[in-house]
Order: sequence, then C-alpha cells, then structure tokens
Amino acid sequence: MRADVVTIFPAYLEPLRLSLVGRAQERGTLDVRTHDLRAWTSDVHRTVDDAPYGGGPGMVMRPEPWDAALLEIAASDPARRPRVVVPTPAGRPFSQRHAEELAREPWLVFCCGRYEGIDSRVIDTWADDEISIGDYVLAGGEVATLVILEAVARLLPGVLGNSASAADDSFSDGLLEAPVYTRPQVWRGAEVPAVLRSGDHAAVARWRRAQALRRTLLRRPDLVEHAELSDADRAVLEA
Ligand code: ADE
Repeated sequence: MRADVVTIFPAYLEPLRLSLVGRAQERGTLDVRTHDLRAWTSDVHRTVDDAPYGGGPGMVMRPEPWDAALLEIAASDPARRPRVVVPTPAGRPFSQRHAEELAREPWLVFCCGRYEGIDSRVIDTWADDEISIGDYVLAGGEVATLVILEAVARLLPGVLGNSASAADDSFSDGLLEAPVYTRPQVWRGAEVPAVLRSGDHAAVARWRRAQALRRTLLRRPDLVEHAELSDADRAVLEA
C-alpha cells in the first residue's frame, strides 16, 4: 500500500518510522510519503490560511495549495486513483470495519487540516472519506492520521507476525477481547486462571468467548447489541 500524507507539520508523522508501521515500510509492504503543504504555496510567506468568510474566530486553510498538492500527488501515478481521506471531527466515526475497508485500498492520501479546517470546496472536490477518530477536537489531522494509518497498517498482509492475531482483536468480531496472561503463574498472589494452563484448547476457547462476552456487556453494552451471538453466547450472558 502507498500512503501519502499532506501536512504543514511533516515532523508530526515521524513516529511512522518506528515499530510495526516502520517495519512494514522497511519490508516494502507500506510506502509512506509525507509532504509539506507549503511546498505548493507561491507567495514569499508560504501562506496556507486566511480569514473565514462570514467572520468568526480562527483561520481557514486556503484551497489553492491543497488543490496543487493533490493534483501533483495524483499525477505521480496516473494509472491509479488514490482514495483521499480527510480526518476531521465532523467525519464518519472511525472503526475496525473502516480500518479493514481502507486496508484493501492500494493507495491512500491523507489531508491533515489545521486551524478551523480546510476550505469546504477542497473537501467537495477531492475527499472520498471524512473520518473522525472520536468525539473530541484535536489541533489538527496529523494525530488522527497516525491513528488511522497504524490501525490500517497492522491489517496489511504479513505485517503482524501471526496473522491470526488480527482476527482475535477486540472489535474484529464485534466484542472486546478476553484478558491475557503470561508468566509467572503466580504474581503478587494472583494466579493465572487454571483453564489457560490446562492444555484443553476447546475449554480455553470457551473461556475466552465467555470472558469476551461478559467484559463487553459490562464495559460496552452498545457493542453486545450489534454482535452476532449464538445460543451458547446468550446462555453465558444470561448466567
Ligand atoms: N481533527 C481534529 N479533531 C479530529 C478528530 N477528532 N478526528 C479526526 N480528525 C480531527
């Protein structure tokens, strides 16, 4: 997958060199290209913003640098068309489903807005997706892009060491994950549940499913309503 990120703060995206996303880049699974929006300004001050029409506080990002940037990036591979993503608190709420959908795309372009946002005509012209990572307001789209790209990158083929671990994730089946344990067997007087040490894989699977169901009911009852439940699942929840 190729991912272009347009921002006035390219340094914000540097963590993408680290850890799992960094390794995906080293292996060639993911090709992240960060661009400074100011490269597409034409005045000496490299201006990217202006006052909002209609008044009000703050500044709005001018359309011309965005359009020039997106035209040039799109033209760099005329055989394909990128999916253009604009992170914004006004966007569609980001979810694991959404990450899975984006992970199937060969090419994403992220437009990181700052100030009060990007001139709406840029969004209308270019955006395929407006995405919110939660009901709070960040200073810009950069951190949201990091969040989205990390969630997407770990779903790309070969990025996780064990491809089964993405299928076991919280949310992949609509539920939160069961709690996990490692050695030592007893720590601060607390023992690892016996079933996990039993070697009985079917019993472990049943225990994990029950834990996932109870945890989700307790912490996120909204998720249980939409999860696909078997009769055995219902029996666990009613117990
Ligand atoms: N930009 C500012 N706040 C945001 C949010 N909550 N989600 C996505 N992009 C944002």
